[in-house]
Amino acid sequence: MKANHRVLITRGVFPEIVEYLGRKYDVEHNEDDRPWPPEELVRRLQGKSGAMATVMDKFDEPVLAQCPDLKVIANIAVGYNNVDVPACTKRGIKVTNTPGVLDNTTADLTWSLLMAAARRIAEGDAFVRRGDWKIAFGVQYFLGQDIHHATLGIIGMGRIGQAIARRASGFDMRVLYHNRSRLPEGVLVNSARGGVVDDAALVAALKEKRIAGAGLDVFEGEPKLDAEYLGLSNVVLTPHIGSASRAPRLTMCRTAADNMAAVLEGREPPNPVN
Ligand code: GLV
Repeated sequence: MKANHRVLITRGVFPEIVEYLGRKYDVEHNEDDRPWPPEELVRRLQGKSGAMATVMDKFDEPVLAQCPDLKVIANIAVGYNNVDVPACTKRGIKVTNTPGVLDNTTADLTWSLLMAAARRIAEGDAFVRRGDWKIAFGVQYFLGQDIHHATLGIIGMGRIGQAIARRASGFDMRVLYHNRSRLPEGVLVNSARGGVVDDAALVAALKEKRIAGAGLDVFEGEPKLDAEYLGLSNVVLTPHIGSASRAPRLTMCRTAADNMAAVLEGREPPNPVN
């Protein structure tokens, strides 16, 4: 028999997750995967005690105040900057996340961006596609930055930062973290959150070649991004896909579902944030 709970899955997730939760609860699932504006999120949360959500769903005080039935927000993410956690705590709403299951995948993507930016891969690809590759080989074509024996600076040496650092040993790199000194010829990668990097300052540094290249997966206010990036050939841009391979994404959904179920069934969730 189903427990007496109604839950909302705010974005399109894997069918096996909907089925899994559907065996326990009445589930409303955003199968169309169209992001809901706050008013719609609030409307759909009426009478729901659980929300399985993504970092694109904002749970601020005005939203929370209109959702009196909500008991748990199970983010399908390690981050939870979309949730006002103190406001949730005050209202007795549990918040959970999915740490640990996406570290290596996100580290791989970070390295992809680093390599692409340093070795000018996207720029070279565009050059070939445009038909500009007229002379087969040039001694000074597309000179990039060496990765091997370079210094890797990591801001935020948590699980993902450490996974990025472990990969650096194969390239004989020196690893610094929370480095404050200015590095000449640097390549900057952001696979954490928009806002960690000051876009205007980065654009200026890239234009002036104080920073040789950048690889960016996250942007403040995404999916909008600073239009100046689009005109810069020394930037590689990806659409927030750090943890995007099937296994971790499925595990993230499963983890969020288990977190939500634990709270609704009166147990401590495996990954509490508050
Ligand atoms: C994705 O951005 C996450 O926090 O997992």
